[in-house]
Amino acid sequence: MSIDPILTASPAEGQPGANTRKVFIKTYGCQMNVYDSVRMGDALASEGYVPTEQMEEADLIVLNTCHIREKAADKVYSALGRLREMKKARNAQGQELMIGVAGCVAQAEGEEILRREPSVDVVIGPQTYHRLPAALRRARLGDRIVDTDYAVEDKFEHLPAVESTRVRSRGVTSFLTVQEGCDKFCTFCVVPYTRGAEVSRPFRQIVVEAQRLVDAGVREITLLGQNVNAWRSEGPDGREWGLGDLLYKLAEIPGLARLRYTTSHPRDMDDRLIEAHRDLRELMPYLHLPVQSGSDRILKAMNRRHTAEEYLRLISRIRAVKPDMAMSGDFIVGFPGETEQDFADTLRIVEAVGYAQAFSFKYSTRPGTPGADLPGHVAEDVKAERLERLQSLLLKQQAEFAKSCVGKVIDLLLEKPGRMPGQLIGRSPWLQSVNVDAKPSQIGDIIPVRIIGTGPNSLFAEPVGASSAS
Ligand code: 5AD
Ligand code: SF4
Repeated sequence: MSIDPILTASPAEGQPGANTRKVFIKTYGCQMNVYDSVRMGDALASEGYVPTEQMEEADLIVLNTCHIREKAADKVYSALGRLREMKKARNAQGQELMIGVAGCVAQAEGEEILRREPSVDVVIGPQTYHRLPAALRRARLGDRIVDTDYAVEDKFEHLPAVESTRVRSRGVTSFLTVQEGCDKFCTFCVVPYTRGAEVSRPFRQIVVEAQRLVDAGVREITLLGQNVNAWRSEGPDGREWGLGDLLYKLAEIPGLARLRYTTSHPRDMDDRLIEAHRDLRELMPYLHLPVQSGSDRILKAMNRRHTAEEYLRLISRIRAVKPDMAMSGDFIVGFPGETEQDFADTLRIVEAVGYAQAFSFKYSTRPGTPGADLPGHVAEDVKAERLERLQSLLLKQQAEFAKSCVGKVIDLLLEKPGRMPGQLIGRSPWLQSVNVDAKPSQIGDIIPVRIIGTGPNSLFAEPVGASSAS
């Protein structure tokens, strides 16, 4: 799962009337936050807020934050410092500007945010954002609100249903959160503390939301969860279903052409899920399966509860049923106690797997996690140097993977206008961005294209024959 700050404004939609308020939501962190921002937008729409992409014209600015590494929280505080000035200037002109902080920093810091930043009106956690409109109403009366409970009610039940008009403006791919929280307690990670225990959304709720998205023109759904392959729910047959079963069911929805899921833990890749990769044409051959380290000693200290060998064996089993599976992963360098030998094991596992894409980070101490108290913290310059070596290997593999696609004919889901007129950008089955000559009316179609070249972050393709599945 990508955790580098993704700065997304809510998509522009609707025609603001004279009295409508505008909201700008800035999203940091992972795809779960991107989904949460969209749903916060839905909740605020029922209060008359329309999204804007211009922070300067917003009446409400919400920072949807990430707490996974230290710098992320620092970034939020410095962004809040800038917003404080903006609010002062607005208020001096007799205008309102409300400021909200949502997401994992909100959950972790709570009241502390109000103490450090007098300009913040509302602090709302990831489990309570359905209550954001009510919190804003109270804040407008002069209260400053912190609502970071693990709400007893199901927030998804309390959010407005996804309306097709709003979805249509969001495009042909969509995230759908099916699971939240984590019980794994990797010793470096704050997620079990910020997002709480593992909770799965009920099967029926997911199917209804997926169907609504498809009715509104979505062709590809990515199921999200901190630990998505731990998803469990009672199925329609009364049996406990896992993610594999859910994928078989969702693949039956007519018009839903593609399915993906992220992020997975190696220990929860069960047989049914692997079978789904074998059987379902809709399930894309791309798997984000973080290993974090290639050293058994470090994996143990991280509480990952598997060895490097077990991870490699799992990938062999997956590739045995899906030979073109592209692998993606997350890595941490410089975990406490990591020696040069441990790091060499990480490079070795990367060599053995061959990643199409990967995310790698320097270990960042998170107070309150067991890793923070471990002996043998690694010096920053050592971490930086190891990260550089790891990233150059991963980038080399990514470029090799892209090059291996040149000459192939692949199915491309056309997603949005490209940079050049007359071009669209689509997604390959392996999640690469691909530029191709196509008409805007083809957005949402899946067409066969031949890959003809590679760029730094995308591929170039030419259409092959007539448009296929649409
Ligand atoms: N330091 C560095 N990276 C971390 N991640 C999680 N916690 C930390 C931390 N304390 C990375 C892991 C995880 C990804 C979402 O973020 O690689 O898979
Ligand atoms: Fe964090 Fe580990 Fe849970 Fe992933 S599996 S969210 S890294 S505790």
